[in-house]
Amino acid sequence: MIYLDYAATSFVKPPSVYKTAAQVMLKYGANAGRGGHTLSVKAGELIYETREKLCRLFHLDMPEQIAFFSNATTALNAGIKGVLRPGDHVVTSSMEHNSVIRPLAELKRRGIIDYTVVRADRNGRLQPADFARACRPNTRLVVCLHASNVCGTSYNIAAISRAVRTPKRLFMVDAAQSAGILDIDGRELDLLAFPGHKGLYGPQGTGGLYVREGVPLITLIEGGTGSQSELFYQPAEMPDRLESGTQNVAGIAALGAGVDFVLQEGLETIRSYEAMLTEYFENNVKNIKGISCYGAAPRVGVSALNLSGHDCIEVADRLSTEYGIAVRSGLHCAALAHETLGTKESGCIRFSFGYFTKKQEVDKALYALYKISKS
Ligand code: ALA
Repeated sequence: MIYLDYAATSFVKPPSVYKTAAQVMLKYGANAGRGGHTLSVKAGELIYETREKLCRLFHLDMPEQIAFFSNATTALNAGIKGVLRPGDHVVTSSMEHNSVIRPLAELKRRGIIDYTVVRADRNGRLQPADFARACRPNTRLVVCLHASNVCGTSYNIAAISRAVRTPKRLFMVDAAQSAGILDIDGRELDLLAFPGHKGLYGPQGTGGLYVREGVPLITLIEGGTGSQSELFYQPAEMPDRLESGTQNVAGIAALGAGVDFVLQEGLETIRSYEAMLTEYFENNVKNIKGISCYGAAPRVGVSALNLSGHDCIEVADRLSTEYGIAVRSGLHCAALAHETLGTKESGCIRFSFGYFTKKQEVDKALYALYKISKS
């Protein structure tokens, strides 16, 4: 199988990730922070080391301000629902994934908040000044993606941060498609949600949320933290405030190995390789009659298109069954982004490339699309 679905999850991972997960399960399969015995302490250390590595990646210096979740969606929910209070207003964009739009829509339906959507243009581009213009006196949160999971277009989060952030107004970034690929300076943000299993090459079932020190959070989940067990209430301190129940020690340690890999290779090396593949694909795919491409540069390793006269689901099925190529078609859990790009009715075919994608695999995908266009 030629795997071109890195935007959904990264596969292949670096060998060190598989090895770390297996070794931790075999050697240190104890419950982190639940007992003073050596194995429990070691498991706790492994988790803490991954927090430290993530801090290095995101230019942060307080590892305890990073809490682990099972994916970016749970991290986004914890952050969004954690900071909002009745009467608050939120600003977001029309390129968001459902993991941002649905929590906001649900809070609005319950009468708790209101929100404004900043519209991107037809190519998915967003202007930082539009976020500032949409803010009201009661805007508590601006939440925005760093790169689109549909078309790959990426956004200048530093500029948006400068435009909107005040001592009372928080800025949160959804780094689902950018963590491990684009540089993220956590010091410019109040909250940062990221998956572990995409650009950071950790296993599925990993993700996290950075919360700036001092940002008050209501909890969605309470329970055992291995700390302050005498309290009836959830501890106020991070990361225990957000981390209840047994941790995914093997997954988080393996995520640490994935972050090591990213740090060793270097973000710029990874980004430029994926950009080269994407540009190569886009430049060549446009020569196939009937192809329409979506989105604009700068972008991460994602290319979105349709082939006229062919349903996007049918094309993805044929790529899989006839050519052994894995891509994702449809609405990609981001109907609002598709509406923005003009593809809400049709959906589109998404090719997404990773650091382990070879140029020959891109050529095979181009050839397969060409053959399908002729049939
Ligand atoms: N959000 C992931 C995707 O875009 C799963 O495929």
